[in-house]
Amino acid sequence: MAQTWTPNSWRQKPIQQVPEYPDLAALEATEARLAKYPPLVFAGEARRLKSSLANVAEGRGFLLQGGDCAESFAEHGADTIRDFFRAFLQMAVVLTFGAQQPVVKVGRIAGQFAKPRSSNFEKQGDVTLPSYRGDIINGIEFTEEARVPNPERQIMAYRQSAATLNLLRAFAMGGYANLENVHQWMLGFVKDSPQAERYRKLADRISETMDFMKAIGITSENHPSLRETDFFTSHEALLLGYEQALTRVDSTSGDWYATSGHMIWIGDRTRQPDHAHIEYCRGIKNPLGLKCGPSLTGDGLLELIDLLNPANEAGRLTLICRFGHDKVAEHLPRLIRAVEREGKKVVWSCDPMHGNTITLNNYKTRPFERILSEVESFFQIHRAEGTHPGGIHIEMTGNDVTECTGGARALSGDDLADRYHTHCDPRLNADQALELAFLLAERMKGGRDEKKMVVNG
Ligand code: TRP
Ligand code: MN
Repeated sequence: MAQTWTPNSWRQKPIQQVPEYPDLAALEATEARLAKYPPLVFAGEARRLKSSLANVAEGRGFLLQGGDCAESFAEHGADTIRDFFRAFLQMAVVLTFGAQQPVVKVGRIAGQFAKPRSSNFEKQGDVTLPSYRGDIINGIEFTEEARVPNPERQIMAYRQSAATLNLLRAFAMGGYANLENVHQWMLGFVKDSPQAERYRKLADRISETMDFMKAIGITSENHPSLRETDFFTSHEALLLGYEQALTRVDSTSGDWYATSGHMIWIGDRTRQPDHAHIEYCRGIKNPLGLKCGPSLTGDGLLELIDLLNPANEAGRLTLICRFGHDKVAEHLPRLIRAVEREGKKVVWSCDPMHGNTITLNNYKTRPFERILSEVESFFQIHRAEGTHPGGIHIEMTGNDVTECTGGARALSGDDLADRYHTHCDPRLNADQALELAFLLAERMKGGRDEKKMVVNG
């Protein structure tokens, strides 16, 4: 693996999850066009994210990463983006207060279009067609025509990502993300929640803190950090031709960066050490995520860490663990111990979505209690091992969908048909996402009190 890396060296390696484009000349022409387009993000931003994540790795911050399972062309609109951002920022405030630490905000957005599939084909009745692989590759409609991979879709995904990112930057820096706004939205959520009683305590303490800051003259007019926030983008780097076209040299450092998003991650299905996805990712300098599922051994993880982060740089690598509520206790400790034994610097993040998918009334769904339970176990295990539970990675939307069961409004299997809109996996709706944040914040505070008692006692 000490061989030289280039943006296209992955093409010499075996690869999983590649679409079969019928017209390779058209694909090549599209990639050549993309290679001339402006970068979506720039290297300085990716470095800034990496240094924030380094703080998380050292135990001084918390990562909140979330967004759609798959973005779609059909649902591209200002309202969808705004509602997502609104829910996400409320979660961030609640978690900042709960953790008493800065929350690093990373969306699964502005590039999250390509999906790995467990089967190359989908069968409905007597008809078998190629699987849907995300809007950047083919169409979700179950027709022969829609399922043909079309390179032009990469251009559409690029343009949608640019427009989404543009609005998010405006929201993050232009006043919409003002802490006072977010605080008011959060109070509105608490007031209307069936669990209002339970969430009010924490909400009141945040309100008091805001009032206190105002009283001593700290306002968003004289403190820009109260009205602005750093928001970053991320997606799974699955479609490597697209990623390669957007891989650029940073003129200040001479290093290569993926400019399709600030952070990119490698899926659990494409993390073979000698395959293409690891090869591509090892050569770019962005912060990376690595999905860790039940089949990953301690040694397997250490091998991947050496490939992806040979210099053991804090902030470079986030391990996104996705085991399932009933498997996390079996698998997470061995990974933590391997990493600790070798002194590797990583961010530990919990993806409580992907190991908890079940089928109910013919819908893919995820029970809220299992999602919460996996995160709780994740926190407990880290506490027991003496390591930092650094973050969560969730699939969510700002819309009022009915895709995951449970939560304060107790969505049932029969409710799923009402507003089941996802293009891929079931997402937490805005209320469920915010509830998760409240419940975690409660427990983070509980954890701190426990620590104090140990110290004082
Ligand atoms: N700039 C700080 C931060 O991003 C405070 C802040 C401003 C904030 N607006 C926010 C925090 C919205 C969470 C959500 O942490
Ligand atoms: Mn998913």
